[in-house]
Amino acid sequence: MIRTVSTQAYPDQKPGTSGLRKKVRVFQQPHYAENFIQSVFDAIEGKTGATLVIGGDGRFLNREVIQVAIRMAAANGFGRVVVGRGGILSTPAASNMIRIREALGGLVLSASHNPGGPDEDFGIKYNIANGGPAPEKVTEAIYARTRDIAEYRTVDAPDIDLDAPGEVQVAGMAVEVVDPVADYADLMERLFDFAAIAQAVDGGFRMAFDAMSAVTGPYAHEILERRLGFPAGTVRNGTPLPDFGGHHPDPNLVHAAELYELMMGPDAPDFGAASDGDGDRNLVIGRGRFVTPSDSLAMLAANAHLAPGYASGLKGIARSMPTSAAADRVAAELGIPAYETPTGWKFFGNLLDAGMATICGEESAGTGSDHVREKDGLWAVLLWLNILAATGKSVDQIAREHWARFGRNYYARHDYEGVETERADALMAALRASLPSLPGRSFGPLTVEAADEFAYEDPTDGSVSRNQGSRVLFRGGSRVVFRLSGTGTSGATLRVYLERYEPAGGDLDRDTPDMLRDITAAAEEIAGIERHTGRTAPDVVT
Ligand code: G6P
Ligand code: ZN
Repeated sequence: MIRTVSTQAYPDQKPGTSGLRKKVRVFQQPHYAENFIQSVFDAIEGKTGATLVIGGDGRFLNREVIQVAIRMAAANGFGRVVVGRGGILSTPAASNMIRIREALGGLVLSASHNPGGPDEDFGIKYNIANGGPAPEKVTEAIYARTRDIAEYRTVDAPDIDLDAPGEVQVAGMAVEVVDPVADYADLMERLFDFAAIAQAVDGGFRMAFDAMSAVTGPYAHEILERRLGFPAGTVRNGTPLPDFGGHHPDPNLVHAAELYELMMGPDAPDFGAASDGDGDRNLVIGRGRFVTPSDSLAMLAANAHLAPGYASGLKGIARSMPTSAAADRVAAELGIPAYETPTGWKFFGNLLDAGMATICGEESAGTGSDHVREKDGLWAVLLWLNILAATGKSVDQIAREHWARFGRNYYARHDYEGVETERADALMAALRASLPSLPGRSFGPLTVEAADEFAYEDPTDGSVSRNQGSRVLFRGGSRVVFRLSGTGTSGATLRVYLERYEPAGGDLDRDTPDMLRDITAAAEEIAGIERHTGRTAPDVVT
């Protein structure tokens, strides 16, 4: 029944920060998805009889690619495919499913926070047996295979009914259509004090959750409204749509502006949150108080012991390099190690597997823990809810008390999107070349203490990742970091990460742009953003 189909390699199937992401039209080229999926299967061992988890964020092309992947899994010797009903599995739920089903790995179909629809983005990511994104040595092997692939294997079998729970056979392989929500919701219920949160809800505590017409809708309905008792309507935009209702499912102040306005207005509930296309990112806003992802990581780490799943304390805290150093101060106070990794959740996997870190986070709105091997939007929301319920404090109060104790890392990210690739590369090359000459130079009131190109040596396996962003550190703990995004699908996106540390007792509740003015000016002078790109202002500030 197995059919071998000849194909031609595509030159552009290099996985980025988080899997292969391309325009839907690119994926619709003949055999494009098949080539990549076969390259994944060729790059991994132990497929015979093994279990593979498949699911996605419900975006345009999700169902079609799942059917293709199921047939190819059967032809490549897998014994079982576990797929979420409707083709749905949020990224953290997929990670959990891989772990509890002891699968060899999983295909997560998503382009995360990128828009969906026929003219927008699609993506395929392979996660390994620990539930986390494949590490670089695996993605490199996959990419190498895509360059010389000449055939793929499939079977002749009809599409399965993705909406019918239960088990069917596809060419001798079992395919199980499972509830995408239940196991994940159970896991959350074990980690957090649902009774305490439900009691706060009974007492009138209210929240708004914006699922952005993406994958977290069904999860949030079940957990927030059914299990925790928040009133119906708490979850907004709760039905996953193939084009996310035409919106950009990225939970930041630009794309979740409605939620932000609600939370800053007179009718704000106690707590506001949103998650992205595939459910791994989070946005957290208290009544009248936005919490940056870097601060959220630090505040969650400082208070995690209030949740049952973390009552025995944290083993360590890890953050990506561009994420602010706020979490490092918490780690120092707790007497536990702090790790600084390159951008990309895959770099946390080894630290979590080795029991060196418990909580991880990134400036790009990702926070998570060792409960799965992906960042987890609803997990962050629930940990915040648990902390608010346990302390009876508001988000604003938690934030102010945190800064009073640890000082505040004022922080912003400036994105310059759709820059011509050559121009962006030229900027980065010139910047890199100038780094050795920067120490000792002054830019306005700021003096450079050190400047380098970030490289990371994984403490568990010694693997080294170079060229992970240029950083310029100023005296007094302020800094600017420059890197090019690894997740875009058109042109280049320049990210400029600005951070200023204000110690406890200092100016702790000022306007962020004001506090970052000198660093923003220094960043322009150091990198020549306008000269290289013609841009005088960023497209998105988060
Ligand atoms: C994805 C990854 C994250 C990463 C983010 C930023 O969401 O899962 O781990 O931080 O992309 O990537 P970028 O390369 O666009 O800055
Ligand atoms: Zn995502």
